[in-house]
Amino acid sequence: AIDIRSLRQETGHITFDPGFANTGSCQSAITFMDGEKGILRYRGYPIEQLAEKSTFVETAYLLINGNLPDRSALTRKSVMLNDFSLLHEDMKAFYQNFPSKAHPMGILSAMLNALRSFYPELIDLEEDLNQTFLRLISKVRTMAAMAYKISRGHATVYPRSDYSYCANFLHMMFDNPVIPYQMKDDLVQALNVFWILHADHEQNCSTAAVRVVGSGKVNLYAALSAGISALWGPLHGGANQAVIQMLESMHREGFTPAQVIEKAKDKDDPFRLMGFGHRVYKTYDPRAKIMKKMCDKVLAILNIKDPLLDIAMGLEEAALNDTYFQDKNLYPNVDFYSGIVLRAMGIPTNMFTVMFAIGRLPGWIAQWREDALDPNQRISRPRQVYTGETIRDYIPIGDRK
Ligand code: ACO
Repeated sequence: AIDIRSLRQETGHITFDPGFANTGSCQSAITFMDGEKGILRYRGYPIEQLAEKSTFVETAYLLINGNLPDRSALTRKSVMLNDFSLLHEDMKAFYQNFPSKAHPMGILSAMLNALRSFYPELIDLEEDLNQTFLRLISKVRTMAAMAYKISRGHATVYPRSDYSYCANFLHMMFDNPVIPYQMKDDLVQALNVFWILHADHEQNCSTAAVRVVGSGKVNLYAALSAGISALWGPLHGGANQAVIQMLESMHREGFTPAQVIEKAKDKDDPFRLMGFGHRVYKTYDPRAKIMKKMCDKVLAILNIKDPLLDIAMGLEEAALNDTYFQDKNLYPNVDFYSGIVLRAMGIPTNMFTVMFAIGRLPGWIAQWREDALDPNQRISRPRQVYTGETIRDYIPIGDRK
């Protein structure tokens, strides 16, 4: 084990590491990644096994508590998730006052901070933290579905206590008094897999944001709200929305994969091939492999022929055969196929990153908890390499040129 205290000495030397590509900011026992081999494990369990055999609720428990729950613990948690799923009715007023075009990620981030005012008793580290976590995981799902319903001008739908976590989300999103939502077990299972794949990914941009903000001892709600804001960006979780918009524009305008690849390679053009590349993976993202298979499955279940899937597969093939992408080890990441899955499920494009956020919540919570309970934890405070003026004398305004 590393002697943390011995590393605390400020030596006067600064490591310059833009984007923290080579900086280990914490010790963590939650998620293991090997970017060269394309390995991802939560608490030691391979992502492939979890995606095949686990549920999102069980995986959330695993990430936060460290081990898979036994049957009674899982039942208890599932019951509590249902018990906690209602929101204070006064929160509806907040939703109704956002402009109708407001992005759901901005709304979710704001509402998560607002949630703290409604449930202030949940922020004390001495309280039963597990209850707080369950409340958050349950309520954030309700908040996301509610944001969607209100944005459509529809009545909000209350959760049902006989539904599982994932089924309840689909129910709150899509049920309405005129056309009751027909629950499909296969789709519920697909949603479980979707959220398991997103549940944690070690020190990515949003998780690092949660840890950095949390390190100032801010409450969990505020730290998670920062995570949601960080996730929103198109280079991070916002890429799932950007991928679909890219595929849609190819479909609409008739751009070929070769044209798009050339545009992505052009260094004078800020455009990047969305859903491609990763800071850590230098091979195929293991989550993308599972997502691609799930894409075929969901389209088959729903009997949908989505032209965007063919475009995506053509684009992937063209990129993987291109020396620029090969030389830079750029492969599809989790976001490349996820939008097609969500689209097939009926999730609107501007909710894609919210779907990612619901999935990532257990990971953020687990990472925040690990940091908060670490006796060696210190406030995050990176240094800089100063490049400004050295020293200047103040010039009165009348003497300035
Ligand atoms: N299209 C074209 N070129 C790319 C792409 C891409 N998608 N990704 C990286 N490159 C190029 C860069 O231009 C750079 O080229 P250079 O060496 O000639 O300057 C080189 O590959 C390395 O790229 P960096 O930006 O330095 O890599 P970094 O690790 O900082 O960025 C990132 C990783 C942000 C994911 C990047 O690959 C990217 O922008 N991808 C597209 C957006 C995306 O899909 N984001 C989702 C990531 S997964 C997630 O967050 C859930």
